[in-house]
Amino acid sequence: MISSKLPNIGTSIFTVMSALATEYSAINLSQGFPDFPVDPLLIDRIHYYMKNGYNQYAPMPGVPVLKAEIAQMMERSYGRVTDPQDEVIVYSGATEGIFVTIQALISPGDEVIVFDPMYDSYDPVVRLAGGIPVHIALNPPDFMIPWQEVADRITPKTRAIIINTPHNPTGTMLSADDLKELSALANKHNLYVISDEVYHRIIFDGRQHESVLRYPELKDRSVAVFSFGKTFHATGWKIGYTVAGKAITNELRKIHQFVTFSVNTPIQYALADHLKDPANYLYLGEFFDKKRKRFLEGIKQTKFKPLSCSGTYFQLVSYVPEGNESDYDYAIRMTKENGVAAIPVSVFYDDQRDHHLLRFCFAKDDATLDKGLEILKTL
Ligand SMILES: Cc1ncc(COP(=O)(O)O)c(C=O)c1O
Repeated sequence: MISSKLPNIGTSIFTVMSALATEYSAINLSQGFPDFPVDPLLIDRIHYYMKNGYNQYAPMPGVPVLKAEIAQMMERSYGRVTDPQDEVIVYSGATEGIFVTIQALISPGDEVIVFDPMYDSYDPVVRLAGGIPVHIALNPPDFMIPWQEVADRITPKTRAIIINTPHNPTGTMLSADDLKELSALANKHNLYVISDEVYHRIIFDGRQHESVLRYPELKDRSVAVFSFGKTFHATGWKIGYTVAGKAITNELRKIHQFVTFSVNTPIQYALADHLKDPANYLYLGEFFDKKRKRFLEGIKQTKFKPLSCSGTYFQLVSYVPEGNESDYDYAIRMTKENGVAAIPVSVFYDDQRDHHLLRFCFAKDDATLDKGLEILKTL
């Protein structure tokens, strides 16, 4: 008999909905991946490096030229002077970055504060490290962090807080005031801050991304996690990175070397070239804003009510349920009977609370979005 380390983990909702969307030939607005082409210049650079022999193991923490470009980008974007050698690691996706960070910082019995609705990897990875996830619910319409409740839930065992901004699935962003509250608590109680910032380039309405990297008082206790998959429409490449102080990065390195050791060599060199021109990523907010506006314009003519979204490529909508059908059952029925797949938001809550919300991904070409919207208008 196998004694499962994660007895309650089944197939993820993203796999379930995407499989269902395929089975029923539905428009898939559920899983969060963009369907736009990768910049051909970037692909050319990968070819170049592959053809020129850059095909063996990369240095364990990442190729130096890529780490140098990441460090400069962080300084330009967030004013964080970053040492490429001691403060940056390249991973096989942000997923590995999150896994390694939690494994490095959390010991058996440590409590970790997480906020629901929550990206699905945090809770199981904390458990794998022997930690105890402490869930605090954020609620519609604004999903603000209740800082007093956070303060009340901190115990002598609390070791870390995990934040995600811009936030999947709600599309909300933390404000400068939130970061001040966070810094005060983290410093008072000696906590680590694990900050999932994979959507930092996808922000709207002139908002400023409040990276933990902007806050010198968090420098020695925070890890910021990023993903090139989100930035370059290439989620399948699985390349991410962390930026953290030297002492923490040293610990992250020890774990990363025994998870994947190193990451795809030619893509790392190609990304280093691509990052030299900030125009290659600074256009993203505007690009996705057009998609968001197109989607919102269409949603106006449906029974769904959009919630406020400041970042990410997700849009939450509320609806009035029929009888006591759960959002989960409704999402399944909508996929099977109407041919549009979305994600029910209750799956992102530890207690599965149902606010009758669906998450749509608008990182899709216009024709796909329009087809989906045409169907939604008929519901
Ligand atoms: C909030 C959040 N964190 C992390 C990830 C994982 O990023 P990657 O694909 O680089 O592993 C995702 C991907 O959907 C995400 O939405």
